[in-house]
Amino acid sequence: MLLTREEMTFDFGGARLDPASDRKLLAWMMNQFLYGEVTGIQCGRWLYDAPDLEAARFFSRQAVEEFQHVDNFLRILEVLGEHPAPAHPMVRFLTTGMMPASFEEHVCLEMALGEGFVLMALYGVIDTIDHEEIRAILQRAVKQEERHVDFGERRTAALVRERPSLRRRLLGLSLVSTWGVRRLGAFMRSRLPDHPVLSKLPDFLKFTVDCAEKRLLRMGVLLKPFAQLGPLEKAACIAEAYGASVLTAPFRLLPRKRLTDTYLRDPAVLQRPREDGEEPIRLVR
Ligand SMILES: [Fe+2]
Ligand SMILES: [Fe+2]
Repeated sequence: MLLTREEMTFDFGGARLDPASDRKLLAWMMNQFLYGEVTGIQCGRWLYDAPDLEAARFFSRQAVEEFQHVDNFLRILEVLGEHPAPAHPMVRFLTTGMMPASFEEHVCLEMALGEGFVLMALYGVIDTIDHEEIRAILQRAVKQEERHVDFGERRTAALVRERPSLRRRLLGLSLVSTWGVRRLGAFMRSRLPDHPVLSKLPDFLKFTVDCAEKRLLRMGVLLKPFAQLGPLEKAACIAEAYGASVLTAPFRLLPRKRLTDTYLRDPAVLQRPREDGEEPIRLVR
């Protein structure tokens, strides 16, 4: 990953989550994660839009891992003696209301930034919870989430290198999503119950935005820190992002190149050495 575990670790100042006294709060948190994992399974949808076999293989494995994460959160709820319950409308909106329209938006917005955000929330629970089994379950899950973030980062960085014109559009969309997280932090600041971990949540959200900024800089989506972007520059990127989606909408109806059109030119197929060195039989020339 482009950020280390240390860089993504928030200092909760020694605050702890107790599985008994914080049971209801933990159950609420696990139900938000549970919803997120169910949306994670839907990465299977990107098999149809995968540009190459490596990406398709990754998404199929990821879907299996997200199914395991669903089971993980169900198990944690069971350990807590709690039940699955609906997620908060804001969480539902942030995870399903902003469906990306293309592979490049998916790897940047959902995988690098979105799963990066979930990863940091999981690190936060691991670092504060006083329960061995729950921590062990989450430790296993984060290893897989780290790979999902890494894939999103690598693919985003490569896409921006190959097609620099993508940069401003991805930046515009990233500005809107980080603005949403900032607003959420500001909204929470005066409304949280008195709890040592919860009272740190607005600062934690600010910290996740700082990490998202580092990630965007390291992927090459952002060329200078947010603070150095002028309001006009930001507005232009956002207009480009949303303008592009309006302009390209009619073209989405046109058939795209799918793996079934491209697999014979795919690096994963071309790189396989033929053991006999012979040309394959072609029935049609
Ligand atoms: Fe997951
Ligand atoms: Fe994931």
